[in-house]
Amino acid sequence: MVDGFIAGLPKAELHVHLEGTLEPEMLFMLAARNEIELPWSDLDELRAAYRFTGLEHFLPLLFKGASALRRSQDFYDLTHAYLTRAAADGVRRTEMSLGVQSFLDSGIPIGDQIDSALAAIADARRDLRIDGALMVTSQRHRSQAAALEVLDLIAPWSDQIIGIGLGAAERGNPPGKFAEYYETARARGYRTTIHAGEDGPADYVREALDVCRPNRIDHGVAAATDPALMTRLRDEGIPLTVCPLSNVALQVVPSMAEHPLRMLHEAGVVVTVNSDDPPYFGGYINDNYEAIHEHLGLDQATLAELARASFRASFDDPARIAEHLAAIDEYVAQSEK
Ligand code: ADE
Ligand code: ZN
Repeated sequence: MVDGFIAGLPKAELHVHLEGTLEPEMLFMLAARNEIELPWSDLDELRAAYRFTGLEHFLPLLFKGASALRRSQDFYDLTHAYLTRAAADGVRRTEMSLGVQSFLDSGIPIGDQIDSALAAIADARRDLRIDGALMVTSQRHRSQAAALEVLDLIAPWSDQIIGIGLGAAERGNPPGKFAEYYETARARGYRTTIHAGEDGPADYVREALDVCRPNRIDHGVAAATDPALMTRLRDEGIPLTVCPLSNVALQVVPSMAEHPLRMLHEAGVVVTVNSDDPPYFGGYINDNYEAIHEHLGLDQATLAELARASFRASFDDPARIAEHLAAIDEYVAQSEK
């Protein structure tokens, strides 16, 4: 019964990597289309490789998959496929990240990447009634100079890219390394997010708040080990974009039953539910909502609160956020009849 409630619940997805939405079937199709050799001979072998010991194990597989994308059409197909899937899950607004540096390394011009993603977003807005927004993430194992170069490269699209972020290998690459990247991005009008406290410590979340001053923290689950930090996140109203299935798949938490999402929510931290890299971690956004219902005992009213939080934490216009919140109220009232 709750599965039906979750499926119809209007929701926003705020933490999803476009390159991380590449389904195994599409990966093989693109590799054939672009004549790229993959290290897996078939889908079963690929799926067997999707058992991760941690973030450091997962990232090379993500980058290998992304290497199959080469042409504009590939970026359009990837983006449109994700938007179609998200719309089917009741996602009304999605803020999707693209890690452009991996593709620049393969010689794919920035314009091919961004224009194709934007074209798919426009088509899906018209045909599927899902409102997509594009964010660009830099990779933290690279230098700050490389991240600043990304800001220069995307400048022609600055009014069509809603925000910037920072992802990839967290430990050993603390937020402070990217202080100027965040300062510059803010000065250029971007909203900002940062992966922090995923496989890094709570101190990285604190450092991110102090130095990068992001609008949102991606993951941030390590804050659950630090009561003072939870209080600060609550008081400053900085939302966490939490990805429960991702955290279990990357062994950030030992099991779904031990996931700190409920504890963070009950401590008053703004928590949202997201999918991160859905085919890699075993599910899209509704699978994440179902997992926290089943393993953390969150009831329908709480799931609806989390969905409201997802719209409030989005970078959408206040008037549209208000419309989405009204749609949730109406949906909840209908389902109580
Ligand atoms: N890029 C894609 N998924 C990621 C994750 N879970 N952590 C950091 N960077 C990522
Ligand atoms: Zn992520």
